Amino acid sequence: MAYKIVVANQKGGVAKTTTAVNIADALMYMKYKVLLLDLDPQCNSTSVFIGGAPAEENKTILNVFQKKDNISDCIKHTDFGDVVCGSRELANSEDTFMRAAGGLKIIKNALKKIEDDYDFVIMDTPPNVGAFMRNALFAADGIITPLQAKRFALDGLSDFLDTVELLKDDGNENLEILGILLTMYDQRNKQDREVYEALPEVGASLNINVFKTAIRTCQDIENAIADSKSLFRTKSNSNGANDYADLVCEILEKIKK
Ligand SMILES: Nc1ncnc2c1ncn2[C@@H]1O[C@H](COP(=O)(O)OP(=O)(O)OP(=O)(O)O)[C@@H](O)[C@H]1O
Ligand SMILES: [Mg+2]
Repeated sequence: MAYKIVVANQKGGVAKTTTAVNIADALMYMKYKVLLLDLDPQCNSTSVFIGGAPAEENKTILNVFQKKDNISDCIKHTDFGDVVCGSRELANSEDTFMRAAGGLKIIKNALKKIEDDYDFVIMDTPPNVGAFMRNALFAADGIITPLQAKRFALDGLSDFLDTVELLKDDGNENLEILGILLTMYDQRNKQDREVYEALPEVGASLNINVFKTAIRTCQDIENAIADSKSLFRTKSNSNGANDYADLVCEILEKIKK
């Protein structure tokens, strides 16, 4: 049965999409069967997987939310890997799903039909706690919260983690916080070092794991995302690939998979 990981933080631009795509890429490189779900109306991970704008996709995550199609009919097999594409139209219907009975458990229920086909399902989420992030948190086994190594990175973190705890109490008590992940880390930058050094104590005070691996700022990561290329198949010796590989080893160790 697939282990489901959600990459989430209500802050924007902290490398959620980059992390979701590269964890998926690393796991596929290690021969695991992986499905990525793009639950963000910005559709950024979709763009990476399909190599362009998702405008022409007609079977997307929206069809799953609207219960028009089974999720298995919405999986697109691309050169990058398997993806359920996001939809820009999602943004118009967030309130509807938020209010509908069972509207926050749509993804959890949909995934039941395919979870034996994959080892991992990775979910990319938008930078707000709405219907889509909640759906992902209900469906997930584990959550990874990326933090950018910059001042103010920690602001809002404990509120976000409180929200996750509330959702756990509400129906997904098995959700495991896998850890906080420092991203875009530049060791030469004083601010970055301050956040890096402060994190273990923050993690201990919140009783939450902080991954030992920090993802360094790396041009190859940025280029691979921009060019829709697999970092692991094109730059497997880059700092970025090494860091994401180390992260995946930590995750595998944690979940014993
Ligand atoms: N380790 C890294 N090195 C260099 N650039 C990075 C790194 N990680 C992320 N980036 C770049 O930072 C930007 C923001 O990353 P990303 O889109 O993954 O953030 P996000 O949290 O998904 O944003 P949003 O909240 O809008 O969904 C992107 O341009 C991405 O290429
Ligand atoms: Mg994103």
